[in-house]
Amino acid sequence: MTPQSPLTPTISDAKGHELRAQALLSKMTLEEKIGQMSQVTGGSWHLPQDIQEGKVGSVINEVNVETVNELQRVAMEESRLGIPLLIGRDVIHGFKTIFPIPLGQAASWNPERIKEGAKIAAVEAASAGVNWTFAPMIDITRDPRWGRIAESLGEDPYLCGELGAAMVAGFQSDDLDNKGSIAACAKHLAGYGAVESGMDYNTVNIPENELRNVYLRPFKKALDAGVATFMSSFSDLNGVPASGNEFLMKQVLRKEWDFKGFVVSDWESIKELSVHGYTANDKESALCALSVGIDMEMASTTYADHLATLLEENKIKLHEVDTMVLNVLTLKFKLGLFENPYTNPNEFPELVNEKHLQAAKLSAQEGCVLLKNDHQTLPLSKQTLNSLAVIGPLADDGYEQMGTWVFDGESRHSHTCLQALHDHVGDEVDIRFVRAMETSRSKSQHEFEQAVEIAQQSDAVVMFVGEESILSGEAHCRAEINLPGNQAELIEAIAATGKPIVLVVLAGRPLTLAPVIDKVDAVLYAWHPGTMAGPAIAELLFGLVSPSGKLPVSFPRAVGQIPIYYSKKNTGRPPSWDNITHIDDIDGAAVQTSLGMSSFHLDAGFTPLFPFGFGLSYSQFEYSDIALSSNRIVLGDTLNITAQLRNTGAVEAQEVVQLYIRDLVGNVTRPIKELKGFEKIRLKPGESQTVSFSLHTDDLAFYNQKMQLVTELGDFHLWIGGSSEAELFTEFEIVETL
Ligand code: NOJ
Repeated sequence: MTPQSPLTPTISDAKGHELRAQALLSKMTLEEKIGQMSQVTGGSWHLPQDIQEGKVGSVINEVNVETVNELQRVAMEESRLGIPLLIGRDVIHGFKTIFPIPLGQAASWNPERIKEGAKIAAVEAASAGVNWTFAPMIDITRDPRWGRIAESLGEDPYLCGELGAAMVAGFQSDDLDNKGSIAACAKHLAGYGAVESGMDYNTVNIPENELRNVYLRPFKKALDAGVATFMSSFSDLNGVPASGNEFLMKQVLRKEWDFKGFVVSDWESIKELSVHGYTANDKESALCALSVGIDMEMASTTYADHLATLLEENKIKLHEVDTMVLNVLTLKFKLGLFENPYTNPNEFPELVNEKHLQAAKLSAQEGCVLLKNDHQTLPLSKQTLNSLAVIGPLADDGYEQMGTWVFDGESRHSHTCLQALHDHVGDEVDIRFVRAMETSRSKSQHEFEQAVEIAQQSDAVVMFVGEESILSGEAHCRAEINLPGNQAELIEAIAATGKPIVLVVLAGRPLTLAPVIDKVDAVLYAWHPGTMAGPAIAELLFGLVSPSGKLPVSFPRAVGQIPIYYSKKNTGRPPSWDNITHIDDIDGAAVQTSLGMSSFHLDAGFTPLFPFGFGLSYSQFEYSDIALSSNRIVLGDTLNITAQLRNTGAVEAQEVVQLYIRDLVGNVTRPIKELKGFEKIRLKPGESQTVSFSLHTDDLAFYNQKMQLVTELGDFHLWIGGSSEAELFTEFEIVETL
């Protein structure tokens, strides 16, 4: 197959791509231009003809190698100008080798690990001809009811920004033209993670100040990381649907941030502008989306159907269309598609190869968070255990462990927990298994007796509970986020045996564990860990590796606490342990007028069950000797911070050192803590290390009431530690002059 580009690739730098795109644009008919702005779904019988006629710029959801190559051949050889196709796919956490759901990857707090996962996903997807993924999803969310929290990188703008940038770097590498690199897409601009009541597609209201200080930050970071494309959100924002939102798309993205790539709508989100009641019909929707600069329409056809008429009617200008087509063509040149439109899987590493599996295992392992470990129940030991009961619906289910957004992953590649435990202990420990529930949602207690029986006969129990993959993801939201079905009852029945119980939770979101947490001895939160769940978890359970994951989201005690997040505001009545009352402690007889008069819930207090940044280890870490380069710095200067970290436990382990600050007084109220740095460090027992961070005063900037990004003079608190409840404390001041 010889690619027949209309233009010779003489200039290869960024400017060159644009010049080539411009030269090509000058030859295009209006119909061909509108074609480049249209993304259509694979599979339809008339697709080849549409491509031939220049009506298609991108195809979504076609990953059959022969078909993809044939579509590219039609585009290159049979369409008038030989323009290759963007082949888009949701490669969210792996292609064939499935990595943990993004929330699970975020729990690793390890940008390098995340970058590696995205790189492997890109290489595998590219071998199938995919050249564009719709990831990373960098919507900040503070609502675990929202099913798409699984696809998110958590509640914090800094963490999400750093990890999202790492994903972009993994997908795109340092040059989109590199073999195995694919274009990334930062989505969903913006505010989608704040849908009311955590219900997908719902209304979003975020004041501009909060939008800029929290929700937009990771998007800016993705832009700085060179992300090729953005996707507009399904939701409306302050009354204006994102796909027609001039403030987001023009003011912020193009004007303030000077974004040069292209924006794709979400699936039919342009057509849905009229369903929102923002436009009256498809024609108005096309006009609206075009006017704010949505360069490509996904799935619906309002552009194809109406742009020509809108031009005739002079409602839009040709130069607007041209700019958008240029944006699309430039990416195609950057990806090197005119020279290499086809894929040849033989030129790529084998899918699901050993190296990819090892990377997936490490990612899963580093994302597991040890939430509880009483009496050092974990790690288990082959020396002391003769028998182990393995119970639960998620112990041996290769499909469910992969989680949401797995279009291409196959359960036949999955290594389940039960298999891995068998592999690990061989015949040294007698493993008995009862699934006990068909799914996590089952109400039947039919197999409970059998489960209790094997628990009674064993030295310890490991229960694999949680949620199937279908309970999280797009449009899969929950109003209650407890363990579904009869899992709590199952735990209770097993707890009654008095055997040590380790709970391994596989889930797409934080669950409310309060009803069961006291009934078990240890809890390992594994999210949906992907293909290599089994080996990753077995090695953790048996202590070959110490857990090192930290929560990227706060875990509520009860649904009623949502949204609950560590970087809250102080309020005028901050709660503390001595100014709150529990509902059970209200004196029934007396007329009690004050129950604390602070910001708390009578039945849930004011803290989460597990805070952001929290996660235990098999070792212990001691933080000490916090020091600043100076406790007074001038605007424009950098503050250097050091502290000592020492592994005081008995095993080698990794710790995520976290740096938080508080800006005490601001033109708008500031959070009581804000993450400003983190580093994952591995130490042997007894070993210590100096941890260093540096903070430029720009890193402390926030949007004020006038929406100016400013760093204000004044006092700051600073903490370093292993969670958002870090205690090692110091303070500093930003001054005008020294
Ligand atoms: C809808 C989702 O919201 C978006 O994230 C995804 O990339 C597209 N569908 C394409 O599948």
